[in-house]
Amino acid sequence: MFAHLPTPLERADRLGAALGFEPGRLWVKRDDCTGLATGGNKARKLELLVADALARGCDVLVTAGGPQGNHARQTAAAAARTGMGCVLAFNSNPPSRTESNQLLDVIFGADRRFVGPIAMDDLNSVVELIAGELRAQGRKPYVIPVGGSSPLGASAYVAAADEILADLGHDDVQVITATGSGGTQAGLAARLGHERVLGIDVGAVADPIATVRRLTIEVADLRGLPAPIGEPRIARDQIGEGYGAATRACLGAIRLAARTEGLVLDPVYSGKAMAGLMAVPRSELRARAVVFLATGGVPALFESRYEEWLTGTE
Ligand SMILES: Cc1ncc(COP(=O)(O)O)c(C=O)c1O
Repeated sequence: MFAHLPTPLERADRLGAALGFEPGRLWVKRDDCTGLATGGNKARKLELLVADALARGCDVLVTAGGPQGNHARQTAAAAARTGMGCVLAFNSNPPSRTESNQLLDVIFGADRRFVGPIAMDDLNSVVELIAGELRAQGRKPYVIPVGGSSPLGASAYVAAADEILADLGHDDVQVITATGSGGTQAGLAARLGHERVLGIDVGAVADPIATVRRLTIEVADLRGLPAPIGEPRIARDQIGEGYGAATRACLGAIRLAARTEGLVLDPVYSGKAMAGLMAVPRSELRARAVVFLATGGVPALFESRYEEWLTGTE
């Protein structure tokens, strides 16, 4: 409908050399190039979710996230593209500046609701309240959970795993991804198994292991895939002081990817995921192909709160 798929799988030999990989071992799956509203991983999920919404005759998408949410921005764009309304709930007070993702949300014509600083885990009940309000007005809302991580949304990453396997031509692979609401990792793991996927937690939800475990089972069930064996693998050492907090390792990762590959990572998700990949001992990455999933999120780089950190001296 609107996502540019399949996304390219690119060799990253210059970055690989800097990280101690032999040529041809490190790859980047370019899900930052999915084409919807500057791209990113949510386009795959929205492709399935919006099709479901239209099939059910819904006329407005309702979702939630942090004030700089990429999922919210891409949902607003998907709504515009398909002629639906869009209501976005943010777990913050109204921001003092309308910048980065917020600016795009406004341009796409989304109805923005700032519900105050509540936990990300509590946002889904706010979305239900808004949906109730819309129904009372005669609208037909389609509720999308935080991050688009319903079983259907997460199942979009089964196809991404298939693309990776087809492009590599073998299945000796280790995929590394940022893990927020957990759907991306769960979809990959439903296809590849937990062992071949490493999530780097960015601190979005309280218990990412339980979230990914549950979602992987649900995606496998939905897609008729074998029940996943073992446990989700999630590294939790890159969060720093919390979701969105700037860390030294993330800054190093953003600069290294940019300066070796011209690859743009973001400060909240993919920068931390790359920092996580850099922190894994090479002895633990034995697969023939190590695939880093670039998930987008680029607008966050232009938030004024990151300017000093991103431009500071090394
Ligand atoms: C840029 C980016 N990368 C990664 C993720 C994590 O994906 P998931 O929420 O499916 O764990 C998100 C989620 O918001 C994101 O916006």
